[in-house]
Amino acid sequence: MKILHTKQEMRAAVAAWKEAGESIGLVPTMGFLHEGHASLIRASVRDNDHTVVSVFVNPMQFSPGEDLARYPRDMAHDTAVCEREGADVIFHPAPEEMYGQPFYTYTDMNVIPDGLCGASRPAMFRGVCTVCSKLFHLASPDRAYFGKKDAQQLAVIRRMVQDLDFNLTVVGCESVREPDGLAMSSRNTYLSSEERSKAPAIYRALCHVKQLVENGEKESAVLRQGFEEEISRTEGLAVEYCAVVNAGDMQETSAVQGDGSCLMAVALRLGKTRLIDNIEL
Ligand code: PAJ
Repeated sequence: MKILHTKQEMRAAVAAWKEAGESIGLVPTMGFLHEGHASLIRASVRDNDHTVVSVFVNPMQFSPGEDLARYPRDMAHDTAVCEREGADVIFHPAPEEMYGQPFYTYTDMNVIPDGLCGASRPAMFRGVCTVCSKLFHLASPDRAYFGKKDAQQLAVIRRMVQDLDFNLTVVGCESVREPDGLAMSSRNTYLSSEERSKAPAIYRALCHVKQLVENGEKESAVLRQGFEEEISRTEGLAVEYCAVVNAGDMQETSAVQGDGSCLMAVALRLGKTRLIDNIEL
């Protein structure tokens, strides 16, 4: 496995594979890899001749005051995970390699990024779209792998690929959870042990909502109330948003269809840490 730091090296590796008619899978990440990331890498290794994992903490998707400086990093661990899972290349550029000066051009989107996480993190989806556009150009993947844990990001990427005619298939992968239900996230490392013990309440409350739907409840307002009631049993968890949305465009809906096309998407604060999760309804 190779670690490539420049766009030129990345393009050269891809050109050789393309010339040989071999397929490429791309797994974009910000590193500090966990089992969620590993499941994406495994899916790519299974589906493609070559797998590129990008490890890049993308400054453009952090707003001022967010956790860019303290975002966890561990390149030795990430290298071991990629090697173990059979990736061919880690693309690990420096910020100045990705964003030369001056840098004037962005990939931006309306509607899907406006609510939910986009409402409180204004820079995020413009940064995600711009960096993924660049990674798609540099790695020319046949398939790109994203987690359903970040449901709004997945919807944004699917829309961008369709709207801008990127010639690749977006593959959505199931959320990987800790044994107690907490969705894996690089940011879980911010939790104190007391906070960590409270965090599984989020998935428990989402499962409670799914149960309400299975019992015949369809009204979003009732489902949201059910989530908030469950969460209020755990002190210290503050709901930032809780919405029932269509998975395709992440727009709120007043009732679920009951065909799996809707999600409950939530963001909560636990101390200084912001956690997101969702469940298919
Ligand atoms: P990052 O948070 O590192 O996540 C990289 C990919 O792993 C994303 O597609 C995310 O949805 C997926 N992922 C994270 N936790 C997961 C889990 N528990 N189960 C399944 N998949 C999971 O998301 C980003 O980085 C960035 O925004 C990026 C797309 C790389 C652009 O900078």
